[in-house]
Amino acid sequence: MAETKDFFTYEAYQQAADYIRGKTQHQPAIGLILGSGLSPLADEIEQADHIPYADIPHFPVSGVVGHAGKLVIGQLAGKAVLVMQGRTHFYEGYSTQHITLPVRVMRLLGVQTLIVTNAAGGLNRNFKAGELMLITDQINLVGMTGNSPLHGPNLEEFGPRFPSMTHAYDPALTALARQTARSLNLTLQEGVYACLSGPTFETPAENRFLHRLGADAVGMSTAHEVVVANHCGMRVLGVSSITNISILETSSTAETTHEEVLETGKRIVPNLMALLKGVLAAMTS
Ligand code: HPA
Repeated sequence: MAETKDFFTYEAYQQAADYIRGKTQHQPAIGLILGSGLSPLADEIEQADHIPYADIPHFPVSGVVGHAGKLVIGQLAGKAVLVMQGRTHFYEGYSTQHITLPVRVMRLLGVQTLIVTNAAGGLNRNFKAGELMLITDQINLVGMTGNSPLHGPNLEEFGPRFPSMTHAYDPALTALARQTARSLNLTLQEGVYACLSGPTFETPAENRFLHRLGADAVGMSTAHEVVVANHCGMRVLGVSSITNISILETSSTAETTHEEVLETGKRIVPNLMALLKGVLAAMTS
């Protein structure tokens, strides 16, 4: 008989949501996922309830340096928010369905808008390390090579078997972020995010390949979450921190390192925080 994989049931998502409901009075309609080195953003949450992932039924737990592992639920810029301080990655051995379990749990908790952030390499030659990039679209190479988080039986309670991805990143939220950046005088690049599985950084040939495909930034996360969020009808806003410039030539003497990613990520936090707070404050729903 052919091997079948285990998939999460609707009840499993409900168990996680029930546990979280029992730990907080806040009722957030906005979820925020913080990427590598961006954890300090969660320190600004007011009236915060902290829930370690390890305590939540079925939640994946990250072991990566720079990724704290807890939910922080509270108020930011006048809005109730549920913040994932750190996320798990495919390269850690989890299925993409497991990585994205928290997104569906957020949906059950009433989250309608998901803001995703990440650290990414800049493929676009107009980008500089330390800049922010508004994600306008994505190329999910991990999903395209057989690891879609929607692989397996479709849970109709969340959404349809064949969801549209034409507006994976919500045009109205994207416009709001652009406008907010302008009013704050912040440089906000924009472009397409390509998701690879990692954990290696790309070879120069891989970076040239991605660049020719139309990608402006590359990373190891986010796209799975955005697929699941779209499937269950959430609006998505995405912002990448360009922590390093992708190397396109083997003749380069530069190397990409996790330390560089974390270091530059830390430097970008104030700008990202200002942008996110501005967007939250301006959001009407
Ligand atoms: N490649 C992949 N993931 C990344 C990078 C990169 O250059 N920078 C930060 N995350």
